[in-house]
Amino acid sequence: MRIFLKTLLAAISLSFAVPAFAADDGYKNTGLTLDGIGKSYMGREIAAVMGYPGAAWLERAEREKEEGTSKLLPLLGLKPTDVVADIGAGTGYFSFRLAPLVPQGKVYAEDIQQEMLDFITARKAKGEGANVLPTLGGVSDPRLPAGSIDLILMVDVYHEFSYPREMGLAMARALKPGGRIALVEYRAEDPNVPIRDVHKMTESQAKKEMAAAGLTWVSTDSKTLPWQHLMIFAKPK
Ligand SMILES: C[S@@+](CC[C@H](N)C(=O)[O-])C[C@H]1O[C@@H](n2cnc3c(N)ncnc32)[C@H](O)[C@@H]1O
Repeated sequence: MRIFLKTLLAAISLSFAVPAFAADDGYKNTGLTLDGIGKSYMGREIAAVMGYPGAAWLERAEREKEEGTSKLLPLLGLKPTDVVADIGAGTGYFSFRLAPLVPQGKVYAEDIQQEMLDFITARKAKGEGANVLPTLGGVSDPRLPAGSIDLILMVDVYHEFSYPREMGLAMARALKPGGRIALVEYRAEDPNVPIRDVHKMTESQAKKEMAAAGLTWVSTDSKTLPWQHLMIFAKPK
């Protein structure tokens, strides 16, 4: 049994192992750790993707109390005509709350897991979110039309991108000139935020990674949400 387990663990490590990337790509092999994928980007360990069996956790009743989710959307300064992309939309928790704020615009609810998009499609079938568009992306490209997005929202998502460099560049391409990214991540600076380190980010790390995608820092709000930073970045005009 122990030999079988060792072989299994070795096989899993190998399947996640990544080739040594050129140093200036920012990627490094780290070896597999709990909740990590075995590589880092610009010195930050990348977290494993939350699988669709965890969908109920995203819709949990305590979420509003823990994360102050209703406080987030009014901070985004959306206009009724805006085109929004909820990247890593999961069950569409935020997509369906964004939809009424952009009645003449639309919300791309983008994810890499078809099973997550199926939750969104099922909810739409009940008559909600006529302007929510379920969109299947790839791990290194959200497959959104170039120059078309006013605001990209990512809540508890970016730290799980297995190709953050490529995603950053692709998201920058999808934004309109002056378009913004709202990056919401658990605060790594705060030991009282009860989330494992690999699922958190510091503000300075986020700034470094967004700058590598050509995006300019606009503002950080680390006070309104109980556990998360809200960091805004923009594509230069
Ligand atoms: C922790 S869930 C958050 C879902 C949602 N944003 C929310 O707050 O309810 C992270 C989601 O990001 C998605 N994800 C991970 N890597 C992705 C990528 N490269 N592109 C798009 N989505 C990704 C996962 O499939 C998962 O649904």
